[in-house]
Amino acid sequence: MAIDVERWRREFPIVETCTYLVSHSLGAMPRKTADYLQQFADMWSGRGVRAWYEGWWEIGRETGNLLAPTLGVRANTISMHQNVTVAQGIVASCFSYDGPRRKIVMTELEFPSNHYLFEGFRRYGAEIVYVPSSDPIRLDLQRFLDAIDETTALVPLSLVLFKSAFITDARAVIEKAHRVGARVVLDVYQGAGTVPMDLDAWGADFAVGGSVKWLCGGPGAGYLYVRPDLADTLSPSFIGWAAHESPFDFATGPVRYAPSPERFQSGTPNVPSIYSARAGYEIVAEIGVPAIRARSLALTRRLMDAARAAGFRLNTPDDDRERGGSVIIDVPNGAAVADELIRRGVIIDYRPGAGIRVAPHFYNTEEEIDRAIGALIDVVGDSA
Ligand SMILES: Cc1ncc(COP(=O)(O)O)c(C=O)c1O
Repeated sequence: MAIDVERWRREFPIVETCTYLVSHSLGAMPRKTADYLQQFADMWSGRGVRAWYEGWWEIGRETGNLLAPTLGVRANTISMHQNVTVAQGIVASCFSYDGPRRKIVMTELEFPSNHYLFEGFRRYGAEIVYVPSSDPIRLDLQRFLDAIDETTALVPLSLVLFKSAFITDARAVIEKAHRVGARVVLDVYQGAGTVPMDLDAWGADFAVGGSVKWLCGGPGAGYLYVRPDLADTLSPSFIGWAAHESPFDFATGPVRYAPSPERFQSGTPNVPSIYSARAGYEIVAEIGVPAIRARSLALTRRLMDAARAAGFRLNTPDDDRERGGSVIIDVPNGAAVADELIRRGVIIDYRPGAGIRVAPHFYNTEEEIDRAIGALIDVVGDSA
């Protein structure tokens, strides 16, 4: 069913004040988020420590359940963490790297944090393999699959590449990894909320992401999905007292793991951040990712056609099946052009080596796309 764009625009105050096209970076805040944050403050102020057993302790699991349909996973499989790095760190801590299976295979096009985190595991014996890509837009799939073998422990891979919005073939990677006994950690951050995914059916072992982009949540609410049949066989070492089966026993010594998803918890949950993520999760689930995707494809196609007609080069796949929610437009003096667009109220961003990233979401209109392209043509013309 078509999205009632005008109705949803009323739920996102910022769209009344500017042309907001940056949902791959920080999605618009839903009006309802202010109510949730007020609820958090009211609980803290009015209930004090009783808030822990009147909802706060379970809020991570419950909020993960609001996200589950968007990722295509079952209830009670998601735990909440500060950010992607923390979630990846917990995954990495489930394995050892001093035996024959010690390779971590990543694309050189991966989001830098993923490289930084796993680089640190060299000290535990991990061998890091960066698979090159001759094309800066696309994952070189065959080369990537060929790098995964019987010595591979983990394959961290973004479902949507942050610089080009290219959608990687996660199913092919999972299939190859499983054939040789390796595990795949999908970073779904640039896809969740705009690109349909069915992680359960795909057999993804792990997925990590955060809330501030297409999910329209606040910062500090990262998430970790672990495949349910795998979860309770794992012994993560990066955990804390909230991962204990009876945390309030305060038992010392080795942990007795809680069942999943609490098994993957560290310490005190990031309660206010989790509150800040709820409204976005609810709205995305209510509209449904297939409807969001249909709208996104219509808007990005319009944007790409207009950009090409104006003579701009696109650093984004043309094929709808390969493109996530953003369009990357290569212009000379990209950083300065982005600053000027923002000054004129067209909110986008710029990434070196990629270009101006423009990201329409379900609350954007055709008029906004036309306004953004008009402004881009003006600004590039002025700065030529
Ligand atoms: C694909 C991808 N992964 C990870 C991150 C960083 O996530 P976090 O700041 O939650 O660690 C980003 C942020 O832009 C991203 O695009």
